[in-house]
Amino acid sequence: MPATAPDLDSRAAAVLGGGATHAARTYRPAIRVARARGSRKWLVDGRELVDYTMGHGALLLGHAPPEVVAAVRAQVEKGTHYGAASVVEVEWAERIVAAVDSVEQVRFTASGTEAAMLALRLARAATGRDRIAKFDGHFHGWYDAVSVELDGAGRPVPGAGVPASMAALTRVVRADDGDALATALSDQQVAAVVVEPSGAHYGRSPLQPGFMAEVRRRCDETGTLLVVDEVVTGFRVARGGMQELLGVRPDLSLFGKVMAGGLPGGAVGGRREVMELLSPADGHVVHPGTYNANPLTAAAGIATLDLIVDGEARAQADAYAERLEREWRCVLSDAGVAGRVWRLASIIHCALDDPDAQARLPGALRERGVDLLHTSGFCSTAHDERDLADTVAALAAAVRAAARVRR
Ligand SMILES: Cc1ncc(COP(=O)(O)O)c(C=O)c1O
Repeated sequence: MPATAPDLDSRAAAVLGGGATHAARTYRPAIRVARARGSRKWLVDGRELVDYTMGHGALLLGHAPPEVVAAVRAQVEKGTHYGAASVVEVEWAERIVAAVDSVEQVRFTASGTEAAMLALRLARAATGRDRIAKFDGHFHGWYDAVSVELDGAGRPVPGAGVPASMAALTRVVRADDGDALATALSDQQVAAVVVEPSGAHYGRSPLQPGFMAEVRRRCDETGTLLVVDEVVTGFRVARGGMQELLGVRPDLSLFGKVMAGGLPGGAVGGRREVMELLSPADGHVVHPGTYNANPLTAAAGIATLDLIVDGEARAQADAYAERLEREWRCVLSDAGVAGRVWRLASIIHCALDDPDAQARLPGALRERGVDLLHTSGFCSTAHDERDLADTVAALAAAVRAAARVRR
């Protein structure tokens, strides 16, 4: 007998910390995926979902694109870990350097979180300063230094388990507050400002136009490095990432997700002079990591970057997202539910005015065959007409159910 979802929930509760494997996957009832292909995933109970979580934004080409599967399969046959330098790590880095103007050199990590850890260490080594600055609500993984947010009174609060002494080195500034940023940087003790260039949560809270240019300017005035987090936006919103769209040149960038082809991986890239602090020499920044540039991820990353290099995949995913955005707005207005739908390239966000309805929306959609990441959706080249029709029908019913509309 195949395991049912409730069976698996109780088994998971028994053996997984918190009953789950990711903070964003703790909702109940959990969905348990047996397999995924293209735009869809199939659950252990036989249900089929149109997927917009898309590997938390990693899968611009959908699940299991044949070329990426073939590249990974070929690499498995050749070995998954050489404990030595490889050809694929060079080929992978060359593609990133070619795509992103500000990136002269790359160092691979095993995740986006690790990329943030490494970039901040490099910035501290480069400047001889201990402090860093981040923006309230901006997410850069779960490393201590970036796990600090402001409370309602504007006081920084470290996440549970983050040492106060570590959090004290992080200055948290409200997004779009240029004066607060100037104050935070004014004593010239901050090594780096780290920022999501789309605004917090891949554009859920967009930055004011021109703010990123102001961040760059204030960094320049104070000798602070600018670290732009392109873990979600890199290779998705433009070939050269959000920095290309904004015309802002960071000192260091963080990458992950799309450039790792759906396998675990991340990278820091940027100015040669900073990246060269990784060269073996006295006082250099030591960066080991068993899975850095592991050949499987490198193979998936290369195959993915080759498939998207001409921009067509991005354009296709953006065009689907544009249609879904339009339809989604019609759904809200037809249902008479107040809220907003907006988009950054192939990423769609929805916010209903009523917070209770907003909280119910992802569950109501999952029940009707559509899986969002919270209330955001990542579109891919795999989404097609049938997905659009199924999504719009599910949205029409789910929005009414979440907002308790009786019509
Ligand atoms: C903007 C941003 N930075 C960093 C990370 C951390 O990446 P990872 O989950 O690979 O550690 C994420 C993950 O979602 C992210 O959205």
